[in-house]
Amino acid sequence: MSSIAIQPLTRAVRFYEAPIGKKAVMAVTGIVLTGYVVAHLLGNLQIYSSNPEQINKYAAFLHNPANAAALWAARGVLLLCVILHITAACQLWLQNRAARPFRYYKKDDVPNAYAARTMICSGPIIAAFVIFHVLHLTSGAVVRLQEIGPNEPNVRANVILGFSHYPAISAFYILAMGLLCLHLYHGVWSMFQSVGASHPRYTPMLKRVAAIAAILILLGNISIPIAALAGWLTY
Ligand code: HEM
Repeated sequence: MSSIAIQPLTRAVRFYEAPIGKKAVMAVTGIVLTGYVVAHLLGNLQIYSSNPEQINKYAAFLHNPANAAALWAARGVLLLCVILHITAACQLWLQNRAARPFRYYKKDDVPNAYAARTMICSGPIIAAFVIFHVLHLTSGAVVRLQEIGPNEPNVRANVILGFSHYPAISAFYILAMGLLCLHLYHGVWSMFQSVGASHPRYTPMLKRVAAIAAILILLGNISIPIAALAGWLTY
């Protein structure tokens, strides 16, 4: 292989080795994962549709064998984003620790230190939540899942029973959603900072937009276990 062909690869590796390269990977994968969280929430909110069959029709569409290639491609992209996001986060944390073995925070750094601590704590709990969640509502390893027919999960019944019969599971979901809200808020915020978009004029507005988006995602997500526990949803 000629040295001309190697150059772009070498440049990409060098870029990734610098903190800004890892932050860029975290930002891009974070955007993809946040997009999934929003799309998934919009799909789940169909549980409130006046047509009780709506959410099951949607699930049947996703599980239709004709859409299998697209579904597995999307799953592959998501998994790759999760792996890259976690790898870059761990490497950045180790790099920062090596560069600054003794912690010293100026007064102005306190919110940033708090945000960094929140990210390090919330990240692994969210990862654990996603693994539990897939075992719970996709594979049926936690509670037995109901099906309407082949490739037709009874998502409505699975969600309502999965939450209303198991308050401890609902509590774990609500806790994880709270941490996800903080993670999204700080993640969006540090992304703006990484790309140098913090500006005294726009910073308060950007922070408010990030907070409102994270809170809306939190309310939408926790409304489902709460509504199931309260008996407001029937199947
Ligand atoms: C209360 C909130 C949530 C509810 C009710 C819910 C519901 C569901 C259901 C019913 C499924 C299975 C769908 C199917 O088999 O067609 C599912 C799958 C999944 N959910 Fe959630 N979800 C919630 C929150 C989340 C969050 C916050 C995340 C990510 C952080 C997430 C990530 C996933 C993933 C990765 C899958 C597997 C998708 C696949 O099989 O391709 N969910 N969810």
